[in-house]
Amino acid sequence: MKQKRNELNDKKAKAYLGGGEIRIKRQHEKKKLTARERVYYLLDEGSFEEIGILVTHRTKEFGLEDEIYYGDGVITGYGTINGRLVYLFAQDFTVFGGSLSETHAEKICKVMDLALKVGAPMIGLNDSGGARIQEGVRSLGGYADIFYRNVQASGVIPQISAIMGPCAGGAVYSPAMTDFTMMVEDTSFMFVTGPNVVKTVTNEAVTSEALGGASTHATKSGVAHITSANDIACLEDIKQLLRYLPQNNTETTKKVAFELAEEVREELASILPDNPNKPYDMHQVIKGIIDVESFYEIHKDYAENIIVGFARLGGRSIGIIANQPMFLAGVLDVESSKKAARFTRFCDAFNIPLLVLVDVPGFLPGTDQEWNGIISNGAKLLYALSEATVPRITVITRKAYGGAYDVMNSKHIGADLNYAWPSAEIAVMGAKGAAEIIFKKEIKTAENPEEKWKEKEAAYAAAFANPYRAAKRGFIDEVILPENTRRKLIKAYAMLEGKKVIKPKRKHGNIPL
Ligand code: HXC
Repeated sequence: MKQKRNELNDKKAKAYLGGGEIRIKRQHEKKKLTARERVYYLLDEGSFEEIGILVTHRTKEFGLEDEIYYGDGVITGYGTINGRLVYLFAQDFTVFGGSLSETHAEKICKVMDLALKVGAPMIGLNDSGGARIQEGVRSLGGYADIFYRNVQASGVIPQISAIMGPCAGGAVYSPAMTDFTMMVEDTSFMFVTGPNVVKTVTNEAVTSEALGGASTHATKSGVAHITSANDIACLEDIKQLLRYLPQNNTETTKKVAFELAEEVREELASILPDNPNKPYDMHQVIKGIIDVESFYEIHKDYAENIIVGFARLGGRSIGIIANQPMFLAGVLDVESSKKAARFTRFCDAFNIPLLVLVDVPGFLPGTDQEWNGIISNGAKLLYALSEATVPRITVITRKAYGGAYDVMNSKHIGADLNYAWPSAEIAVMGAKGAAEIIFKKEIKTAENPEEKWKEKEAAYAAAFANPYRAAKRGFIDEVILPENTRRKLIKAYAMLEGKKVIKPKRKHGNIPL
């Protein structure tokens, strides 16, 4: 009996050491933490409970029969973050490069199943050379078992993926199906086919970093929602993100204690420039509205013409979508529509109320946009907002032109409350273009066409470059002073807390993917 217990302790010790001290040293030399260090840093002290520490692979080929590591290259289990239950896996690069075997996948599936049954977030710390080459199709099957569970859990529990090393081949599809993908700068990369295959097939020479590094995915592809300078920063980011999320789709995020005061924010009154064609930073408006230092931006460096992120408002977790006049004048284009649509759907699935801040001159024109499907991509945002049943409030700060007025959470597509600042301009298009079209003949035949155009432009602007026509029709519920925005919104979200929407029975809608 005693001998058996010693044997077990010995096995546990081996599992604890992963692939051995030399490989651990190599991991540290690359400025990466080991899987176990990551788990212990992420979770509350003493809270981690490991599951499957003694699991080993079943492969008896290609030398693996003699090389056996307890845990089989992945640490799985549960613990708490700030007192809240989470499930997690952490791939151990020191064991066969963190590669995924059949048993490695079974361990991950086991905790995913538990997370879904109990209703708590699932966190994956990825650091893996992909499918374990010695196992062939059994390893591919293991990946598919994970993908399937990602989909079953989607919209039920929050799923977060941190990429903390290589992530190649089909392995990238599990993170892609989770709600948030975080990447560590310099040490992580994601691609379906690596630089060697790219070179063979397309003759294109590219580095791993340029092809699929954190910066590439944060700015070009949008695959990465958040990037962090190192492992520690990445783990802190996960903790931070979780603060805004509920445990599952039947709960709401816990409110932070908050005592209501006057809540007037004078600084909001001086953000907009006098010239309506000059840009300003919408971050200033967000900052002016929300609880101090509570904004957590998602997709910060991707499609910067729209801002999305979580914040607290009067202690309540909300999701913000805001046009950013600093980039491309805040137009909607393919990327920004996709970015905002995805964020909207996450918030709606997890009962996080939405605030939409509007200053949009319209959709971006051009062949590039049309050929890349601005029609179907713009429709994604329109669809996502239209189907969202969480409390939805809009504030138009300045421009709300054309189809973009409809799309950006207008009353017509189901927003609960629509406010506008006195500076709002709500029209089919800008006054200059409108005058040119509707007074074309008059301008052409005028003695001084330029002057006539200006005169007509001014007349159109006087009629439409304000929020009052829309307010008269009830499309805008109230024209509010900027400084009162925060106070209005706090009251409005409290009023909407009990909102319930009964939807007709259907299998699912058909969002234009
Ligand atoms: C088995 C692997 C492995 C793998 C790495 N190792 N990848 N073992 N299966 N997929 C082992 C190495 O043999 C080595 O073992 C140890 O892990 C560390 O690897 P190194 O190459 O020394 O590390 P490094 O130089 O940092 O390079 C890391 C790497 C490289 C870039 C990930 O190892 C690599 O390119 N691996 C292969 C990647 C790949 O093609 N995977 C299959 C993708 S296809 P020792 O004993 O020396 O320490 C795929 C399909 C999934 O994943 C489909 C799902 C639908």
